[in-house]
Amino acid sequence: MSAKKDMVPIKKILVKKEKKQFIKDLNREVVVSKGVKYYVTDLGEDFHTCYGTIDKKDLKKKDGSVVLSSMKKDFCMFSPCFTDSYRRINRLAQIIPIKDVGAIIAECGIGKKSVVLDAGAGSGGLALFLAYVAKSVFTYDVEKDHVNLVRKNIKLLGLGNIKVKEKDVYKGFDEKDADVVCLDLPAPWNAINAADSALKVAGYIVNYSPSITQTADFVNEVNKRENLVHLKTVEIIERKWEVEGRKVRPRTTSIGHSGFLSFVRKIK
Ligand SMILES: C[S@@+](CC[C@H](N)C(=O)[O-])C[C@H]1O[C@@H](n2cnc3c(N)ncnc32)[C@H](O)[C@@H]1O
Repeated sequence: MSAKKDMVPIKKILVKKEKKQFIKDLNREVVVSKGVKYYVTDLGEDFHTCYGTIDKKDLKKKDGSVVLSSMKKDFCMFSPCFTDSYRRINRLAQIIPIKDVGAIIAECGIGKKSVVLDAGAGSGGLALFLAYVAKSVFTYDVEKDHVNLVRKNIKLLGLGNIKVKEKDVYKGFDEKDADVVCLDLPAPWNAINAADSALKVAGYIVNYSPSITQTADFVNEVNKRENLVHLKTVEIIERKWEVEGRKVRPRTTSIGHSGFLSFVRKIK
């Protein structure tokens, strides 16, 4: 197993904004100074950038301070929010995008009283974010490497309300009366019994599958159950736009596919 990034929490973010200038000869704006972002993990050392060094004394200044590098470049400095730190978690398996995480939280009403179960943990992409908003999260994976990586990511984010377990969830979850069970597994239909037994009445099962055939097999299996209702299956599409003065248009890059979300409710 190789972790791509170091396992050190971010302490400060330094941002140098892109600067543009109107060039008369070209009759258009051009970038005269590129925008960059740096993550500072050690406030006790000078911080080196391509635009000069920031003195360690300046790194201790309050959020919103503008600090000057040795090459006289301005950097805005502030503390990271949860999402800044989350985006830097170490990864093995493909993680769920935050557009889909947001939909799960909103649709299932996940909040500070919710107990959430999750499988497979993968890199912890979904479970870690859920732990940030829920009361507690229990996440499961069969792969030891994945379990260990999620433990490191939990430490990186400083979360105290999430437990990771090495177990095959097709054989069952340990918990009962959960509010939400999230599945991101190769054969989610094999986890429906386990999810049902672990869920309280009125709770939700959310299945996230990249392929529509996996989704169909999951939903068709749900539809055989008297006590489960398939509410909807959706694909959340995110289209990025460029905004430059009054030139406002969708980016020319194609819209990527992540996965399908199926929401199921336990009614008895
Ligand atoms: C695509 S990854 C999950 C990614 C995760 N949702 C995230 O956002 O980082 C699927 C995971 O399911 C795990 N898995 C496969 N079968 C399993 C099973 N029977 N029980 C528990 N985990 C399983 C795999 O080891 C893998 O880590």
